[in-house]
Amino acid sequence: MKKKPQSAAGANRLKVDSARMWNRVERLATLTEKNQPWTRRAFTDWYVRSRDWLRREMDALHLTVSIDAAGNLSGTLPGGEPHLAALASGSHTDTVPRGGRFDGIAGVVAALEAANVLAEHGRPLKRPYQIIDFLAEEPNAYGTSCVGSRGMAGELTPEQLDYTADDGSTLAQAIARSGGRPESLGAPLRSAKDLAGFVELHIEQGVVLEQERRDIGIVTDIVGITRYNFSLGGQAMHAGTTPMERRRDALAGAAEFVVAVEKLARRRASADAYLVATVGKLEVIPNGSNVVPGRVDLVLEARSNRDTVTEKFCRDVIGIAKECAARRNLSLDHRLVSQNDAIHCDAGVQTAIERAAAANGCSSLRMPSGAGHDAAHVGRLCPAGMIFIPCLEGKSHCPEEWTDPEQLACGAQVLLDSIVELDRIIE
Ligand code: GLV
Ligand code: MN
Ligand code: MN
Repeated sequence: MKKKPQSAAGANRLKVDSARMWNRVERLATLTEKNQPWTRRAFTDWYVRSRDWLRREMDALHLTVSIDAAGNLSGTLPGGEPHLAALASGSHTDTVPRGGRFDGIAGVVAALEAANVLAEHGRPLKRPYQIIDFLAEEPNAYGTSCVGSRGMAGELTPEQLDYTADDGSTLAQAIARSGGRPESLGAPLRSAKDLAGFVELHIEQGVVLEQERRDIGIVTDIVGITRYNFSLGGQAMHAGTTPMERRRDALAGAAEFVVAVEKLARRRASADAYLVATVGKLEVIPNGSNVVPGRVDLVLEARSNRDTVTEKFCRDVIGIAKECAARRNLSLDHRLVSQNDAIHCDAGVQTAIERAAAANGCSSLRMPSGAGHDAAHVGRLCPAGMIFIPCLEGKSHCPEEWTDPEQLACGAQVLLDSIVELDRIIE
């Protein structure tokens, strides 16, 4: 990134409104499946409602609202020099099933607050400022996560666009229903020519900031994530009459596989390479208490900050699955669902965040992210970075997810000031 030399001055002139942000968090929290708060899965009615609400908030600030080919909803505040590439911030408004009120939402609300403050102050930036609600960040009915940010980066493959949900519809159709144009996907939708920088605020989803008593995490790297579908096939049989030695129990095979994955990941994680692996989704067919399980479909996910570590781990895990299936006389299918490399956050963006934190008297810490984020994909297009704020006891992807209004306000102020600083230093 090309920069101007001296330090920022007067960034603190612009102040975020904590109460306004908290009201928006609470408003979004009402848009949930009523019997399982907080659940707003991508492509569902509640998700459509949340995006309608967000669009109305953008309209109220007179932002120019648009939906790109990948279904990302954005609102743009013009800058003093409209021909310049925009600065952007955003995250996602979808949740996991029985998730929380802050994952993704904090980043969208903070980005919106920055637009709100900038609009109130007569658009003081020279660059346009854009807020983005990325389509479907969480794994969804079509299997692929980060749909919008992958699409923006030109990373959605024709196979992924063809993934089918249980209702028979494809991901391409779901993107089209969200206002996107899947037929125009395949190449990056943006480049450094129209996107000068991107900063995403997010709850940490871990305990580091809380334990270290820091207000702000400055993300250095975001892990790469690889997901595979595995299907183990046995024979469904009567559970009372089939002797143990005659069974081809797919779930017993899957259980052995899950434990082997856990053991291997524990062995391979090292001081040099972060590595975690999870089997978090299983479908047992037919799932009857008196039927020997005939088939298990499961999803394996591996994450590391070193791509070579993930690759070797997945190769070895496939080997383990083959050996286990052969020994138990089970069939085995496996299919790569998605793969994205780890990414380093831009050094200039990290410095801007660090300075903004210091200018606000916030303590900060540089740290890697073990969670995946839209910024990982946007970072392939332009200089990108992330601001983490603490979340209570590191709990996330669960209803207990929590961050205090003051912690959110602190992060949003650092976000706003980072945007102001980037506007000043990027030539
Ligand atoms: C995002 O929610 C992730 O799975 O890391
Ligand atoms: Mn999440
Ligand atoms: Mn998230």
